Amino acid sequence: MSHHMTEVKDLHYVYPDGHKAVNGISFKIHHGESVGIIGANGAGKSTLLMLLMGVLFPCQGEVLVGEVLVTKKTLPGIRQRMGMVFQDPDDQLFMTTVYDDVAFGPRNYNLEEKEVEKRVLQALEMVGILHLKDRAPFKLSGGEKRAAAIASVLSLQPDILVMDEPTSALDPKSRRRLMKLLDSFEHTKIITSHDLDMVYELCDRSIVIKDGEIAADGPTSKILVDADLMDACGLEIPLALQNCPVCGRKK
Ligand SMILES: Nc1ncnc2c1ncn2[C@@H]1O[C@H](COP(=O)(O)OP(=O)(O)OP(=O)(O)O)[C@@H](O)[C@H]1O
Ligand SMILES: [Mg+2]
Repeated sequence: MSHHMTEVKDLHYVYPDGHKAVNGISFKIHHGESVGIIGANGAGKSTLLMLLMGVLFPCQGEVLVGEVLVTKKTLPGIRQRMGMVFQDPDDQLFMTTVYDDVAFGPRNYNLEEKEVEKRVLQALEMVGILHLKDRAPFKLSGGEKRAAAIASVLSLQPDILVMDEPTSALDPKSRRRLMKLLDSFEHTKIITSHDLDMVYELCDRSIVIKDGEIAADGPTSKILVDADLMDACGLEIPLALQNCPVCGRKK
């Protein structure tokens, strides 16, 4: 596996209706880092991830993945290195069976059908939905759809995993399974989430977004305990770090 750095330089994005969603964001993420991107609803997290992945292109600024500028021309190569799980699994699943959805990426890169099958079964096993392989994605529950969307990215074996709210709609066991899986993923992880307990457990670094700008960027252990910062950005300290709600005892 190659060692890619993801770099974002002075990114700006304005939606066609004139809404400014990202206003001058810059950061560097090194290979192997695990980064949580957090912020209130509408802060610009999903827009930022879509700019990283070349789903949207910036009005100003640039995104570099392993020194390659993200453009329409470089996208096929970028997508091979970087896999993204979208916030809404319906944006990701479009085939008639779960198997075909998870096989779509590897088939697109012309892998042999034997290798495709191996990867699909492995990815479904990893997210615990092997039993759903022949089901129609649009008939699955919200959490099952999310697991299928995650499998469709894992089957590409990306170097950089980009996930938009990966634990939302997952039941506690599935959430824990996903967290274990993400923890074992050695490459770069960039995760947006309102599940700050998950960010606290999995991400060494956190970037806080407020109104399309970076409000803070640093070690998660410092950022998530900063009650004033969290409050100013519409967030709360993770439950695991709050006082016991019953007896008020400090954790
Ligand atoms: N297609 C669109 N057209 C116009 N404005 C949009 C569009 N999509 C998002 N926005 C706006 O851009 C801003 C950033 O949205 P974005 O979806 O990036 O937020 P977010 O941080 O991911 O929020 P959430 O936590 O709710 O997922 C919001 O104010 C939103 O209303
Ligand atoms: Mg979002």
